[in-house]
Amino acid sequence: MEISGNNIPRHVAIIMDGNGRWAEKHGKERIFGHMNGVESVRNAVRASLKNGVRYLTLYAFSTENWGRPAEEVEALMELLCQSIENESKELCKQGVRVEILGDRSRMSEKVQEHLSLIETQTRKGEKLTLILAINYSSRWEITRMAQHIAQEVAQGKITPESVDQQTVIAHMATASWPDPDLLIRTSGERRLSNFLLWQLAYTELYFTDIYWPDFTEAEYDKAIRSYQGRERRYGLTTKQRREK
Ligand code: FPP
Repeated sequence: MEISGNNIPRHVAIIMDGNGRWAEKHGKERIFGHMNGVESVRNAVRASLKNGVRYLTLYAFSTENWGRPAEEVEALMELLCQSIENESKELCKQGVRVEILGDRSRMSEKVQEHLSLIETQTRKGEKLTLILAINYSSRWEITRMAQHIAQEVAQGKITPESVDQQTVIAHMATASWPDPDLLIRTSGERRLSNFLLWQLAYTELYFTDIYWPDFTEAEYDKAIRSYQGRERRYGLTTKQRREK
């Protein structure tokens, strides 16, 4: 059922965590957890569309994940390519536009081709922008932003004094999307793990003990309802916010 009320988050970001523990709980290999996690990705997309969320960012692979056993990394990359092949048509039908956030240069040629393919195939989607964070980390993004601004200063395009928050935002890899309103992290961990550190400055945080493969549409709705009960003050008083 669609959630009522107009206070729906425009942008939801999710740290999908607990695939490995979920698999262990079922006496299976870690990759089994990731494979089942794909169904939860479908659930999150469906629930976003149903509730009128416009942007959904999923942390699918961090720059630190390269340190996992090679066979798990390989299996994750393969799963990503397979999911792209399997889901592309349905995503187009649903009006979902897929965009990629992260450093693609370290990905294999095959993965890079799949990422470009899904972006091209879904570019007309207007209902929901699904942002896949792959080989992403905030520190990578912030370092890259500093390099780009320094280059522009060195080239005389901008002065150091003119650099303000808008300059920083414009040089982030996320420049074309609004900041998340709601961040969900599954599996009971309560940390940000190098994810969207600048962008989450005023985001509402929601933590659940549910492992990602068990994250259903109903669980997503629960997170949205929790968000609807929050008061976002952005550093102001309640009275000031009400008068705005
Ligand atoms: C975290 O669980 C999950 C990941 C690092 C990968 C997420 C990938 C998917 C859900 C599948 C493919 C994605 C898309 C977008 C099609 P974990 O392995 O860290 O779990 P643990 O903390 O229990 O070990």
